[in-house]
Amino acid sequence: MKITRTQVGIVGAGPAGLMLGHLLHMAGIDSVIVEDRARDYVIERVRAGVLEQGTVDLMIDSGVGDRLQREGLSHDGFSINVYGKLRRIDLAALTGRRITVYGQNEVVKDLIGARMATGRALLFEVADVAVHGLKSSQPGIRFNHNGELQEIRCDFIAGCDGFHGICRPSIPEDSIRIYERVYPFAWLGVLASAAPSSPELVYSRHARGFALFSMRSNAVTRLYLQCAPDEDLTQWPDNRIWDELLARLGNDDGWKPNVGPITQKGVTGMRSFVVEPMQYGRMFLAGDAAHIVPPTGAKGLNLAMADVWRLSRALAEHYQSGSDALLDRYSDDCLQRVWRAQQFSWWMTSLLHRSDTGNPFDSRRQRAELEYVTNSLAAMTSLAENYVGFPIAHEFAGELEKTVLS
Ligand code: FAD
Ligand code: DHB
Repeated sequence: MKITRTQVGIVGAGPAGLMLGHLLHMAGIDSVIVEDRARDYVIERVRAGVLEQGTVDLMIDSGVGDRLQREGLSHDGFSINVYGKLRRIDLAALTGRRITVYGQNEVVKDLIGARMATGRALLFEVADVAVHGLKSSQPGIRFNHNGELQEIRCDFIAGCDGFHGICRPSIPEDSIRIYERVYPFAWLGVLASAAPSSPELVYSRHARGFALFSMRSNAVTRLYLQCAPDEDLTQWPDNRIWDELLARLGNDDGWKPNVGPITQKGVTGMRSFVVEPMQYGRMFLAGDAAHIVPPTGAKGLNLAMADVWRLSRALAEHYQSGSDALLDRYSDDCLQRVWRAQQFSWWMTSLLHRSDTGNPFDSRRQRAELEYVTNSLAAMTSLAENYVGFPIAHEFAGELEKTVLS
């Protein structure tokens, strides 16, 4: 068996694992990243698109934001289509902050490029990954790579292997608590070769259900439709998808998305999930491995970035001063932001989706809330503040703002 020694062993090369490896490198800390998928699969996987300003700042300040600054689409607001009436939420005017549309796969591509340039280890297509010795001072990661059994011995393990990874399930059940809620609907997402017909996102509540208009570039539109969790994609030929999107996004001003060839489609289930604490012995969980939000609030990727920023600071403190104060607080500190995002994502989801409870009271109450949120300055400000996200490295009012990477 080949044995390698490093300071931090990272499981998963999604945004969390790659950004953690990058931030640790910047702090002079060695790591090995192991990923079970192929490099091209990881780079091409279509997922999130909305980056909070804190995520953008983190990428720029840590030196991986050049292409993001050139190609990212900066948005000052978005619209909510309330049963045909378009109402704009002016994020910039309400909060002084904005969001950036830049595909998660582009973030991953930039981070893989940065990793390659450092020469530090990033192994794709590893198999049978297992972690052990989590309560010892030298935990390990075992796996198969190119037919050879390997072990990485490290000081710490970062479980950045997403919701379906092996790190969280390696923790004894009686050492963690899980909070979970599964929703009775899902999203059918498509990418279309069509120029976005609006420069900003449109979240739509229509009698037929939720729809979302987004984009990836000046030539590619990204769209989502509320559907059943077990929706059969073979029942959704492209013309049916477009009919439904045009119906649900339609509004009194006559605005509609441009139609074009659909190049990718998939169904994503919806779940709220948190594990507490986000640590077991010398293994720390970050990103989707520790928490999942329904995608309506566009928070998942941003939460993953905030977690690993915190973890990188805590590990840097450990190596620089020998203090574990930040490592000991890691889970509690992360969970503050996580629960704020959980509440917001649940609320955005309940606000915008059709839920067939069978009680007409629920849909009238939801409509009253949509009217309030799109007309009251106080309500819009609260929505905008949560949507643009709280700065990374600064949680809520009361704490002094620290600079990113301070
Ligand atoms: P992942 O991206 O899941 O990465 C985990 C990595 O670990 C993967 O590469 C996986 O292959 C690897 N892995 C798994 N198991 C193993 C193993 N055993 N060994 C080694 N490697 C393993 N978030 C937003 O912020 N904004 C949005 O607009 C947004 N929209 C979304 C839209 C959709 C349709 C979906 C599905 C998600 C969306 N999200 C959004 C959520 C966002 O994509 C996730 O929160 C984000 O990918 C989390 O990053 P991560 O690195 O924690 O996990
Ligand atoms: C996108 C995804 C989201 O979950 C969201 O809330 C907004 C935009 C997107 O993929 O562009």
